[in-house]
Amino acid sequence: MMNTATIAPTAAPEPVLDIDNLQLVFPVYGGQVNALNQVSLRVNAGEIVGVVGESGSGKSVTAMMAMRLLPPDGFSVTGGRLRMLGLDVVNASEKQMRTLRGARVAMIFQEPMNSLNPTRKIGRQMCEVIRLHQGLDRAQAQAKALSLLQEMQIGDAGQVMNRYPFELSGGMRQRVLIAMAFSCEPELIIADEPTTALDVTVQRQVLYLLQQKARTSGTAVLFITHDMAVVSQLCDRVYVMYAGQVIESGATAEVITHPAHPYSIGLLQAAPENAQPRSMLKAIPGTVPNLADLPPGCNFRERCPYADEQCLHAPALRPLDGGRQQAACWHPQRTGQERGA
Ligand SMILES: Nc1ncnc2c1ncn2[C@@H]1O[C@H](COP(=O)(O)OP(=O)(O)OP(=O)(O)O)[C@@H](O)[C@H]1O
Ligand SMILES: [Mg+2]
Repeated sequence: MMNTATIAPTAAPEPVLDIDNLQLVFPVYGGQVNALNQVSLRVNAGEIVGVVGESGSGKSVTAMMAMRLLPPDGFSVTGGRLRMLGLDVVNASEKQMRTLRGARVAMIFQEPMNSLNPTRKIGRQMCEVIRLHQGLDRAQAQAKALSLLQEMQIGDAGQVMNRYPFELSGGMRQRVLIAMAFSCEPELIIADEPTTALDVTVQRQVLYLLQQKARTSGTAVLFITHDMAVVSQLCDRVYVMYAGQVIESGATAEVITHPAHPYSIGLLQAAPENAQPRSMLKAIPGTVPNLADLPPGCNFRERCPYADEQCLHAPALRPLDGGRQQAACWHPQRTGQERGA
């Protein structure tokens, strides 16, 4: 007779990034900043997943914790877990983290000038990274750098390799960084607002190139932004964060056409289609609660038009209508659809 315990589950393979009820605090004088409050989020292989929310909602802390780039003595994880490519990031050694960073997981930051060495030509920087992680010789690394730049539709890629970062436009620099991120053939790229500083047209082009390259290489992307228009262009699924908490998640198309959490509704109302980015999050009245002194109950309560007595108790993230969209709200709105039980 078969031992049922040995039958392999038919479930999907382990996600490349799996964050489960993560709680993270920064101790500060006289208290603590509750930066992440039970964040659960996953990215499956090859998926492009967005994290959206206004300033201070915990997007960058989530990304930095995944890469374990937060100052080691400056934070503490008080609950939950975070696994990246099978590694328990909260408890991993620095040596284990180094096997992931830059090689199996790459990160792209908002300001490319901070990530590029200003004193070295583009080609040399790219080749160094490629050789370090891939053991290619000089000529092979150069050929690879060139073809990656061409894939990012940099016309005179050969010339660009001979330039210094300051000689390139912002959009060009960001394409170089994306090329570098892909150069080690990572399984996951974490991009923290990489196009926020670019104008809308250039931003669209860069996002399109990132998306195409991720699709053809099967690389998963966790894309952080405060801009719903960017999410709708790029992402398969989206997590909406508010005050260190995921308050809604689901397929991008669903969340955008039928947002359920009043905060997501506010974000989207503030961002009509094709709206100019950066103008969008200002329309929700009120401010984000102080993370050092969170009120009991729902964190959005004080800004919410639907808040009532029930909202004095914190709502957990739960599925709507038995589907895959989830919201942490006692009064999810289902505009254009039957309302959930
Ligand atoms: N080292 C730190 N010590 C204390 N508080 C911190 C520290 N790092 C981040 N925080 C706080 O954690 C919260 C979340 O910050 P985070 O940078 O993740 O926001 P964000 O969503 O990325 O915002 P933005 O859109 O402005 O980049 C903020 O209130 C921030 O002030
Ligand atoms: Mg940030």
